Amino acid sequence: MASLTHPNLVILSGAGLSAESGVATFRGTDGLWEGHRIEDVATPEAFVRTPELVQHFYNLRRVALKTVEPNAAHHALVRLENAWPGGFLHVTQNVDDLNERVGAKRLLHMHGQLKKVRCVWCRTVLDWESPVTVDTPCPECGRTGKLRPDIVWFGEMPYYIDEIMRALETVDIFLCIGTSGVVYPAAGFVRLAAEHGCQRLIEVNLKPTGITSHFTEERHGPASIEVPRLVDELLAESMRI
Ligand code: APR
Repeated sequence: MASLTHPNLVILSGAGLSAESGVATFRGTDGLWEGHRIEDVATPEAFVRTPELVQHFYNLRRVALKTVEPNAAHHALVRLENAWPGGFLHVTQNVDDLNERVGAKRLLHMHGQLKKVRCVWCRTVLDWESPVTVDTPCPECGRTGKLRPDIVWFGEMPYYIDEIMRALETVDIFLCIGTSGVVYPAAGFVRLAAEHGCQRLIEVNLKPTGITSHFTEERHGPASIEVPRLVDELLAESMRI
């Protein structure tokens, strides 16, 4: 049941949120992600077939994180989180740490995080900054060749699904920022929110997407402009409730 006083807000973000910080989106015009086909670097099969390539790819992504900064959209979302009077949950498909760097707390990384690795043998998840090779031992169990990026690859189950589903049951405002809406289950959240009675569904993107028709409002433009503007509007409205 929806909140009687202050609306519950759920945000779903994708690569478009971090694009203006300089983090590459996944589906550029060439269909490649930093020069690689997604299936060559972002599937469990790729990790079995060519672990060196996959580790190298994510090592480079981890290093690249050090060269980027949060943009105005990340800052605005934390401002919203801190001031929003109702329920608040930000679900991101992004694996960067740009939201945390500006203080995001109620944030779920449903596709994992670049700065974490997981041991496929003992299942320990570790914070990780340095390069990983196929010879790097797991600090917990000592086995080599078992550490992998803690990233949800194609064909794997996203994290926090139960928690996200619960939030979608009582969401009053669903805000989707910078995602192409082609990867499920995230692409289906807007429809689930609507099925649960959410009447305000807002999409922020540079352009219409394959799921645009499910939203009740669209804001077309760069996230760094549209998100701060929308946050101002939402906070102003929340003061009037
Ligand atoms: N402002 C707003 N939207 C933007 C911006 C921007 N500055 N730049 C790009 N976009 C939009 C694009 O128009 C596109 O719709 O962001 C979207 C990015 O789409 P994708 O590259 O497909 O990224 P995303 O939707 O996050 O991908 C989902 O796919 O590869 C997997 O696991 C990976 O989490 C990822 C998932």
